[in-house]
Amino acid sequence: MVLAVATAVLRLFPAETAHRTTIRLAQNFATLLPAAPPSDPRLAIRVLGRDFDNPIGLAAGFDKNAEVPDAMLRLGFGFVECGTVTPRPQEGNPRPRLFRLREDRAVINRLGFNNQGMAVVATRLSARARRGIVGINIGANKDSIDRIADYRASFARLAPLADYVAVNVSSPNTPGLRRLQNRAELTGLLQTLTDARAKMTDPVPLLLKIAPDLDGQALDDIAAVVLAGGIEGLIVCNTTIARPDTLKSPQAAQAGGLSGAPLQAPSTFILREMRARVGTKVSLVGVGGIASGVDAYAKIRAGASLVQLYTALTFSGPGLVTRIKRELVNCLARDGFKSVGDAVGADLGPLKN
Ligand SMILES: Cc1cc2nc3c(=O)[nH]c(=O)nc-3n(C[C@H](O)[C@H](O)[C@H](O)COP(=O)(O)O)c2cc1C
Repeated sequence: MVLAVATAVLRLFPAETAHRTTIRLAQNFATLLPAAPPSDPRLAIRVLGRDFDNPIGLAAGFDKNAEVPDAMLRLGFGFVECGTVTPRPQEGNPRPRLFRLREDRAVINRLGFNNQGMAVVATRLSARARRGIVGINIGANKDSIDRIADYRASFARLAPLADYVAVNVSSPNTPGLRRLQNRAELTGLLQTLTDARAKMTDPVPLLLKIAPDLDGQALDDIAAVVLAGGIEGLIVCNTTIARPDTLKSPQAAQAGGLSGAPLQAPSTFILREMRARVGTKVSLVGVGGIASGVDAYAKIRAGASLVQLYTALTFSGPGLVTRIKRELVNCLARDGFKSVGDAVGADLGPLKN
């Protein structure tokens, strides 16, 4: 009840103010609220060498500075991805830069990696007890002259404090960043990071987060580099620069990345395409437009072992996570799956590996 009222009030604020207030509330009051009920055992899954209590994660961008990972785990998420974090702090783009598309259950953001930088985030992560699965998403500073060096630096600083590292080469809001998805650049980037990881005493899984705005050739190239590069996962996908004709909101023409309901089908399409290319050698995390257990289940059947969401949380509030888990269990039971792992890729035919 309290949460429902708080969510309704926050929706009256400008989007970025509402987000900042949510982080403050989570920091100060999360432990006063009852923790989410335990997850159904059918949702437990082992992926990336880690045991996930459930496959529903909080996507990057909500907790950019690792201020509230434990509060978000308490809401019932199976894992939380903090970031994107860059080596040096940066302000991001001028405001306004975050827009709700209420009629479309969507958001457009052009935040531009506003974050406090890796040193502050490292201090925060070092101070927390390592409980629950927390990944860290890394990126490059906008004014960097050597972007690969930026990824190497934030990896070195943050990887030892995280359960996995997501390499974000797909934000549309840092000019030129998406070029790192090209074959030659991506090969160099992943080589740098796998070399850095080889020096760790306790190596972490590496995942690459890709854009939805990629053609078949680009998907082929990424799949080839990922398979050759020895990384463990792909996160599919980031926000889109496309603007479907169906959008109704007055803010639909704002520049930036679109997320939420309009991304659900396109991101599931790319996920399926990627699964067909990488088979089961690489774990897939499906993200884009998940607002229900049915949405999560569609991504799991298309090949995702884990899923993430962000935008739906801003419309539905924190009770969403428990609802999605309940609905997902219902989907599994209806279709005769004993566990969520059995449903991964169920829509796909025989795979090449
Ligand atoms: C306000 C906002 C900020 C975001 N910031 C980041 C970010 O810093 N790094 C990143 O990899 N993805 C970021 N994302 C993308 C999300 O992680 C996710 O990939 C995308 O929103 C699709 O999921 P959704 O439809 O459930 O929101 C952001 C999304 C939103 C809405």
